[in-house]
Amino acid sequence: MISNDIELAVDLLKMEDIIGFPTETVYGLAGNIYSEKAIDTIYRTKQRPSFNPLIVHIKKIEDLNKVAIEIPESAKILAKKFWPGPLTLLLKKHASVPDRITAGKPTVAVRIPNHPVALSLLHQLDFPLAAPSANPFSSISPTSAEHVQNYFGDKLKMVLDGGVCKAGIESTIVGFDDDEIIIYRLGAISKEEIENSVGPVSLLNKNENAPEAPGMLSRHYAPKSTLFLTTNVLEKIKLFSGKKIGLLLFKKTEKNPAVVCQISLSPSGNLQEAASNLYAALHELDTMQIDVIIAERFPDNDLGRTINDRLERASKTHN
Ligand code: TXA
Ligand code: MG
Repeated sequence: MISNDIELAVDLLKMEDIIGFPTETVYGLAGNIYSEKAIDTIYRTKQRPSFNPLIVHIKKIEDLNKVAIEIPESAKILAKKFWPGPLTLLLKKHASVPDRITAGKPTVAVRIPNHPVALSLLHQLDFPLAAPSANPFSSISPTSAEHVQNYFGDKLKMVLDGGVCKAGIESTIVGFDDDEIIIYRLGAISKEEIENSVGPVSLLNKNENAPEAPGMLSRHYAPKSTLFLTTNVLEKIKLFSGKKIGLLLFKKTEKNPAVVCQISLSPSGNLQEAASNLYAALHELDTMQIDVIIAERFPDNDLGRTINDRLERASKTHN
């Protein structure tokens, strides 16, 4: 059921149930981090492998030391600058955080979401919320309450409605290794923005099979139709002549009879707007009768880098 009844959401979470909940990035499947029952339900509902840990959502910066210890100076700078917001910090975990949340890792991922409904909900609870994105394992992340409802139907007692997610793409995950600052997952805050605050950062090596890489299993965020990522859309259209083609473009549109549908992510060429429209566009293409999706490669800077990362993962062949 989609509803905006926060009181009901509070009651369900206190009863160790889980709900779909809105954040500024994507919708999450939320439960009490201290409830074994809720956490089990999250893993089961999402069909998430148990080695893949969950993000902890807190309501205020003062609560950070309840879940993490030995917080590096640069983490504090980033938290002050970007929270509430789409930044997740990987920090040494506090002993009280259940191992099930961190999948046995010594680190905990934590953030404060910047969404009025999420914050209001968190303020009415005396525990943080664990929440992975509210999509079945390896499918496209949800950016509206309807997406969540379509995925899980009656398996969820409630999807708390917070409208369409403004950022529309997941949080940026940043970790610390001695003096090194590492982006583990590109996201709604660009590498450039992070570097403006704390100096040079490295990107986690895109080694696809690195089991450590958070949520970064190579095939992820995937639509049902096979997706091809290219710098030369026209050439690919020719290659797939005879097929029903869906196009996913940055600014311009292509006139071509083979193209059944096409979506420009930002006609004005704004990368932030493009990022916020990406998943909704992939969800929409999933409902079309098409054989292939041809996606245009984005400029590899700012949020273009995040968009390319997601498109690359979406393009990995089915297996
Ligand atoms: O924007 C977001 O981050 C959304 C909203 C709901 O907050 N959440 C989200 O969660 O994207 P999820 O679970 O779909 O992706 C979080 C990633 C996972 O791939 C997981 O592997 C990684 O974060 N992660 C979580 N805890 C970790 C830890 N302790 N060490 C390494 N990676 C971790
Ligand atoms: Mg996810």
